Amino acid sequence: MDIRLFKPSVGKEELENLKAVFDRAWLGLGPMVSQFEDEWCRYIGCKISIGVNSATAALHLALTAFQFPAGKKVLVPAITFTSTASVVLYNRLTPVFVDVDPDTTVMDMDDLRSKIDPDCVAVIPVHNAGYPVPMNELMALADQHHLKVIEDCAHCAGGSYKGKKLGTWGHIGCFSFEEKKCMTTGDGGMICSDDPELIEPLRAYRWVGIDKDTWRRAESAKGRQENEALHWHYEISVLGYKYNMNDIMAAIGLAQLKKLDAMNARRRAIIGKYLDGIKDIPAISPYTKYSIEGHEAYWFFGIRCKQRDEMIIHLKNNGIATGVHFYPLPLHPLFKPYDNGCPMAKNIWKTFITLPSHVDLKDDEIAYVIENLQGFFK
Ligand SMILES: Cc1ncc(COP(=O)(O)O)c(C=O)c1O
Repeated sequence: MDIRLFKPSVGKEELENLKAVFDRAWLGLGPMVSQFEDEWCRYIGCKISIGVNSATAALHLALTAFQFPAGKKVLVPAITFTSTASVVLYNRLTPVFVDVDPDTTVMDMDDLRSKIDPDCVAVIPVHNAGYPVPMNELMALADQHHLKVIEDCAHCAGGSYKGKKLGTWGHIGCFSFEEKKCMTTGDGGMICSDDPELIEPLRAYRWVGIDKDTWRRAESAKGRQENEALHWHYEISVLGYKYNMNDIMAAIGLAQLKKLDAMNARRRAIIGKYLDGIKDIPAISPYTKYSIEGHEAYWFFGIRCKQRDEMIIHLKNNGIATGVHFYPLPLHPLFKPYDNGCPMAKNIWKTFITLPSHVDLKDDEIAYVIENLQGFFK
């Protein structure tokens, strides 16, 4: 066996949409991006969505939207991917690491409360592995301290908390469609909000600062008088980035969005099989709690095991790929200057192992992984 850790699940629906893009021969930022943004709004139930080329870009621009003065503080979890905290530095702000809940790996609410000071302007909760941060509690705390909330939904496209889609609880929600995630556009991301005034300006920021994109300019020039020569006209009033989504990505995204609920259901079924398989192995416990009522989207299945490195080698020798999500950020050289403790994160990560849990994983492959987990202890 040779079992991949992650694998995008793509097929003929994506190819059909791509054919339409090729036939139109408009591959860049165009009508497919607008259609994907509209359908994303309908799917998660928000007023405005803006397609970008990654969640890193989405988070960067989301923070930019608030124009916080340089040096202010932004609270981020100690266990997450680098982008959650890098974007704080991109905006000349200071990351403040929040320790994690030992059972769920997401931001610990008590530690969050204790780290808030008058210089804190925002918080970026991460629904790590898809496990939802208690957003009702977090929003109440944020309100009380006038903090802006940017949800990092890189791991939970399609998920919800207390019946409300993740990404619609905070002031802005950011999603990743990178190839390994719950759904993919190859690389890609989405910025969402119910406050069009807040994020509409980000359309220019994602398009090198230009106020009208080329497709819209070309469309609005159609039917104009022949002697009018202003279709080329645009203005740059902000220092923007080349962060746009393009029609190739959006074509894949539109097909993936139709399958998202089914893909999330398959991931839940895979997780159910793993939970069943490990329940009689005392030295292994689940990475997080995988049983939140009414929540649909977990990105990966992981375990905790004290003999982490030996187990990883054992699985590797048997053709099973694994990962570790994540080495705590304050331990990385870039973030060491912001290390403020976070003992729980620094302790529990040592046991983390991510197991293959992608949508196309077959039942006999799951059984094989479980057999090998059991075999390690024999
Ligand atoms: C929590 C988290 N936030 C942000 C990102 C960045 O996503 P992207 O690769 O789309 O930039 C990732 C990527 O894995 C992530 O895990």
